[in-house]
Amino acid sequence: MAYEVRGVVARSKGAPVTIETILVPDPGPGEAVVDIAACGVCHTDLHYREGGINDDYPFLLGHEAAGTVAAVGEGVTNVAVGDYVVLNWRAVCGQCRACLKGEPKYCFDTHNAAQKMTLADGTELSPALGIGAFAEKTLVHSGQCTKVDPAAPAASAGLLGCGVMAGVGAAINTGAVQRGESVAVFGCGGVGDAAIAGAELAGATTIIAVDISDTKLEWARKFGATHTVNSAETDAVEAIKGFTGGFGVDVAIDAVGHPKVFEQAFYARDLAGRVVMVGVPTPDMEITLPAIEIFGRGGAIKSSWYGDCLPSRDFPMLVDLYLQGRFDLDAFVSETIGLDDVEAAFEKMHKGEVLRSVVVL
Ligand SMILES: NC(=O)c1ccc[n+]([C@@H]2O[C@H](COP(=O)([O-])OP(=O)(O)OC[C@H]3O[C@@H](n4cnc5c(N)ncnc54)[C@H](O)[C@@H]3O)[C@@H](O)[C@H]2O)c1
Ligand SMILES: [Zn+2]
Ligand SMILES: [Zn+2]
Repeated sequence: MAYEVRGVVARSKGAPVTIETILVPDPGPGEAVVDIAACGVCHTDLHYREGGINDDYPFLLGHEAAGTVAAVGEGVTNVAVGDYVVLNWRAVCGQCRACLKGEPKYCFDTHNAAQKMTLADGTELSPALGIGAFAEKTLVHSGQCTKVDPAAPAASAGLLGCGVMAGVGAAINTGAVQRGESVAVFGCGGVGDAAIAGAELAGATTIIAVDISDTKLEWARKFGATHTVNSAETDAVEAIKGFTGGFGVDVAIDAVGHPKVFEQAFYARDLAGRVVMVGVPTPDMEITLPAIEIFGRGGAIKSSWYGDCLPSRDFPMLVDLYLQGRFDLDAFVSETIGLDDVEAAFEKMHKGEVLRSVVVL
């Protein structure tokens, strides 16, 4: 018997999202059904709605979520009914080329549920990032469930499922920020502020926040930014060099996903520095750089899939740091809303009024 629940669906390119009745099948082998307690609104959900990811409409949106396992299918051993979990969108397979090389963070064959959730008329839904958690229940692969300490409230813990993990990981995993290094973060939304918090956790001593909104820059200071630059008013590269003895930063993180921003990050770094792209560009975007600058500047240009995280290693670690008062997950939650308010939350995100709106069920 399928579960009948409410979910937030994007039916066609750019159209406002609607609340639909969706059918969630009983979990099959290796699958789990999760009662969603909270799910953050990430910019990637808006990318889906706008057709920036692919054209597989209708999408069941939402993917930054925490909840409780309601049912598990045959062969599931990593979680049981009643477990408190944060959902992840990269359940590693253990068998692909990357996994066999001992690099599961790059897994090329991550797991999602094999069965499909549908609209009431049987139309198959594409769950955002294989999750689809703006819904009372969702169906995932059991590997997408990571058990964490239930003392962490869902509205905050769920954010680890995407944006916060991507940002923290961009700094500590991909950028490998070291104690005493300098870091610039471009774009101070949920992802960028998490990168700032990650840089602080890693011991960076100069953390430069760059955004085009003064409000966002003010918030960035709360996460650990030591300097701020409004790049709509000031040349970001020059300003960053000014804060770093004329050299540029050790690690520059693009948390916007725009060629112009990437270019700024590229030039804002010191010789042999690392540039990290964690913001997601749209398929039409192109970057042109002088080849000699790529060679001459040395260092590394890296993209950061999900902050190069391993959910089973990183989610419980960050929840522990949160519960110890060393990592302020609550500060990312600007407001809690209902399922009906997702469209309005996109509008607020677009206007830059919130860091994270979080749907609480
Ligand atoms: N790599 C991953 O695994 C991963 C995971 C989650 C999200 N993302 C991506 O990260 C990006 C940020 O997501 P978010 O949820 O933080 O979005 P957001 O909308 O909350 O934040 C974006 C920020 O960038 C700022 N900005 C916009 N244009 C700018 C510019 N030209 N220069 C400087 N700042 C600018 C905005 O003012 C805003 O503060 C998105 O592209 C999202 O899709 C990537
Ligand atoms: Zn794999
Ligand atoms: Zn996301």
